[in-house]
Order: sequence, then C-alpha cells, then structure tokens
Amino acid sequence: MSEGAAKKEEKPRKFQAIRGTRDLMPPETALWNRVEQTAHEVFATFGFGEIRLPIFEAKDLFARAVGGDTDIVSKEMFWLDDRLEGEVGSKLEFLRLQIQYKTASSPEGPEIAEFKKLYAEFVQLYKEALASGIAYRNEFTERRLFFLEKNLERLDQLQAQVRNNVEQFLFEETINHCKAQVADLPLTEPKVLRPEATASVCRAYIEHGMQSLPAPVKLYYMGPMFRRERPQKGRYRQFYQIGAEVLGGSDAPAIDAEVIEMVMTFFDRLELQGVQLDINSIGHSADNCRRGYVEKLKVALEKVKDKLGADSQRRIETNPLRVLDSKVREEQPIIEKLPRIADHLCEECAAHYAAVKHQLEMRGVIYRENWRLVRGLDYYMRTTFEITAQGLGSQNAVCGGGRYDGLVELLGGPPTKGIGFAIGEDRLVLSLQESGKAPAQQGRDVYIAWMGERAHATAIRAAKDLRKAGFSVELPPVEQKFGKALGQADKLGAKYALILGDNEVTEGLWTLKTLADGSQQKLTEPQLLDFLGKERSGE
Ligand code: HAM
Repeated sequence: MSEGAAKKEEKPRKFQAIRGTRDLMPPETALWNRVEQTAHEVFATFGFGEIRLPIFEAKDLFARAVGGDTDIVSKEMFWLDDRLEGEVGSKLEFLRLQIQYKTASSPEGPEIAEFKKLYAEFVQLYKEALASGIAYRNEFTERRLFFLEKNLERLDQLQAQVRNNVEQFLFEETINHCKAQVADLPLTEPKVLRPEATASVCRAYIEHGMQSLPAPVKLYYMGPMFRRERPQKGRYRQFYQIGAEVLGGSDAPAIDAEVIEMVMTFFDRLELQGVQLDINSIGHSADNCRRGYVEKLKVALEKVKDKLGADSQRRIETNPLRVLDSKVREEQPIIEKLPRIADHLCEECAAHYAAVKHQLEMRGVIYRENWRLVRGLDYYMRTTFEITAQGLGSQNAVCGGGRYDGLVELLGGPPTKGIGFAIGEDRLVLSLQESGKAPAQQGRDVYIAWMGERAHATAIRAAKDLRKAGFSVELPPVEQKFGKALGQADKLGAKYALILGDNEVTEGLWTLKTLADGSQQKLTEPQLLDFLGKERSGE
C-alpha cells in the first residue's frame, strides 16, 4: 500500500477539550460579557482599577503565599514543562536525555566508563551554569549539586569494591540514583499555571513599587485560574475568577466592610438569587489569639479523634482549623461542640471584628456569623467571608475572601495591610442561568434577503449603514430565494427581514417585514433607519 493510501485510511483523531476544561459558547458568552461589564462598572464606582496579570508565575510565589501544606499548592497546581534556553541549555538537556538511556550493570567495561563520562560532563556543565546564573539557583539546587558530585565519588568507591551481591546492588542503586537526580533537576525556575491571583497582585504591588501610590491601592482582575480538582458541576480545572484587592497602610474595619459592600452591590445589580453572606474572624497568628486557639482545638480534637473520619483525623496534625470545614454528616454534631475562635480572639482582633460588623450594619449589608468559616489558604487573618447563592448544589460558594495583612511582607515587600475577594465566575453564571436571568438566544435585528446582482450591491451598502447605526445585521453571502431567506431569518431569531429585489432597488423603496406578525412596509433608506432607531428606543 502506498503511503498516501495508508494516510487516507487512517482515521483522524478526534480531539476533545481536556478534562476539567470547557468551551464557553454563545449565547452563554453574552451572559459572561454582561457579568464582566457589570463588574467593570460597579468596581469603577468604588474607585478600583483593573490589573491584568500573567497566567503563569513562579511556583514558589504560591508556595510561599498560599502555603506549601494547602491542597491548592501540594496537590492541585499544574506545572509547566519549561526548557533552559541557549547553547548551554540545549547541551544540558541533551546530556540529561543521554544519561537516562544509558545502562551500566557491570562495574567494569565500556558501559560504566561511558555513563560516568556523560554524568561527569553534565555535573561540570551544570556547576558552571549555576555559577554564571544561567541555570536556576536556590537552596535546593545548590544542595542538589552537592549530591550530584557526591554520587560520582560514591560510584568510584563502589566500582573498586564490588565483590559480592550486596555491593553489586548498591552499585546499581547508585546508578539509578544518579539518573533520578539528573532527571528531576529544575534547570529553570519551576513555574505553574496560577491557581489564584491574590499572590500575583501582591507580587505586582511590590514589583511596581505601588506603595508609593496614594493609599489604599484598589485593584481588580478577571481571568482563568487553574486547579487540579476533581471536576463536577461548578468545579473545573480551568475556571474563571473576578477578584479585587485593597492594599495599603490601613486595616480600618471600614475597608473590610466596603469591600464586602462592593461585592454585594455587584451581585445585587446582577439580580443574583438566594445570596447569603457568611463572615468570621480568624484572629492573628499569636499565642494569645489564633495560635492559642488552635492548640486548644487540637487538644479537643484529640479527645474525639476516634469518632472522626480519616480526612479529619489527618488534619488534626496538618491543619486542625480545616476540620471545621468538614462536610461529613456524622462529624457535624462533634464539630458543633468544639471550642470556638470568637471566644479566643485577642482584644485587638475582637475589637476589629466587632467594628467590621458595625460597619456592615451601617451599610445595610446583611450577614450571618459563621464561626466555622476558616478558608483554605494560609494567608488569611482576621476577617474572612464567603458568599453562597442558589442553584449550585454542593459547590455553592460563589465568592470567598478575607484579610491578609503581612502577605506583601512575606513576599519581600514593605509591611502592608490587605483584603480582598474572588468570585467564581463559572458558578455566578450558573446560578444566574438556574434562576432564569440568562439572556435568550442572541438574535439579529435585521436579516437582509436579497436577489440579483444590483440588489446585492445595495444590500452590502445597507448592511454597512445599519451596522454603523449599531444594529446587528445578517447578510447572506450567496443569493437565495426569498422564501428560503425568510425561513433562515426566522431560525436566526431576526426581528426584521429587509427584502431587496430588483423592484425595491429601482424604486428606492425597500420592503421591511416584521417577522413576529408578518406585517410589511415600504420605506426609503433614511425612513428605515429612522423607524428602526425609534423601535429600538421604544418610542
Ligand atoms: P478561593 O476560595 O480559593 O479564594 O476561590 C474563590 C472562589 O473561586 C470560590 O468561592 C469559587 O467560587 C471559585 N472557585 C475556586 N475553585 C474553583 C473551581 N475549581 N471551579 C470553579 N470555581 C472555583 C481565592 O482564590 C482567593 N484568592 C480569594 C481572595 C482574594 N482572598 C483575598 N483576596
């Protein structure tokens, strides 16, 4: 069979969107646009400016900000497979590949000599690349270089020693060790698709010296985030957030309240149904505040450990606060009896929390206190909040946020207070759709049914004029019988059909058919524009 024939028979692979990602399509995208447009408008009225951030960042940014032990960082980030560029990079990558494919089972002979030569060459080149700053350098890579060099010494020693099975085993193990340590060596800084954007905003705040701007700095963002979670309704691996952050020198409770007021105003404007705001204060990290509370919580949890499920049992050690988040039914009565953070806040945090509640009341924002609201990211302190909406099933949190004083400092910036939130746009849209707030099919205003060459020229001109006046126009690219064209106009949900044939062009009087009732009228072009304009404005 010729190569061409073989190709013909081969069935082309059908590609599908990757698990947890999806295409957003019209007419749904019209609702997304409306949501985003409303966010632009509402946030601007509160003095927020838009920041557009990169979609990938250094892995360490999130490890440091969100916390290395959180699910988001430890399990859910998508790593980018980046390559070291330039001549040194290509050489290192090539050597690394060759090392992976070399076998050396005997301590003598050409195989081991070849392996050691490649390995030594790699280590030497890597050492130089680290010294010159070409390769990514941090504590980890420096320690790794030390071990890479040690491996070489160990191989020399074992080669001289191999006399029995034990040493043979150690020899082979060392070869495998060499390969593994070369394989996962980060030649460039590890990068990930962003799982959230608060860390990025703080990074940008520091990078652009925004502390010198008039405080507080108020920024908002929208765009995709990425987390390797188990996909289900309202939970995706690529999802979209609309978020806002306030950064500066003040932690005045009125700032917390205004940020919450802003997101509630936004939901109100969208007529989101069943909105429920939960608030809490998780204090600050000190022995007389959250740290002391966590110790007490741990003691209380140890006492009921046997009655808890595996996840909660593990969390007693790793992050006891997260036990409060548990949705396991059997655990609920036990959790209800645990000590509560509100009773263990220090004086300042308790006063701050009371003032935030007062400020919310002054703004007419209705809230519910929820002592179990701890949130899953490490950077939070004091105020935390979450908003749920109807029609979302188990993934009903449509917005989460809180205060994160000290995060900018943790990322190498000046001491800074911060508070913000992020809305899950996918969930927001879902809830709006469930409650019938979604716009119907995006119809056309005018469908132009034309026949004949002269009419085509007129139709092109008419389409241009109508579009210029802001009407949505469908102009079929090829001639069709009027009957077929009108059927097409109906299918597309057009309001009017503009009929242009020889007669219309000659007379300069165009036929406009209202598709809802089938009525027709004859109009000149200026009359047409006038009529449609009046119809649009409801005159
Ligand atoms: P978060 O609670 O991790 O907070 O996410 C905020 C919102 O994003 C959630 O309430 C949810 O609506 C949505 N969301 C999260 N994961 C998914 C997913 N896999 N699929 C669909 N929607 C999802 C943050 O991200 C913080 N950065 C919020 C913040 C800003 N705190 C202070 N400033």
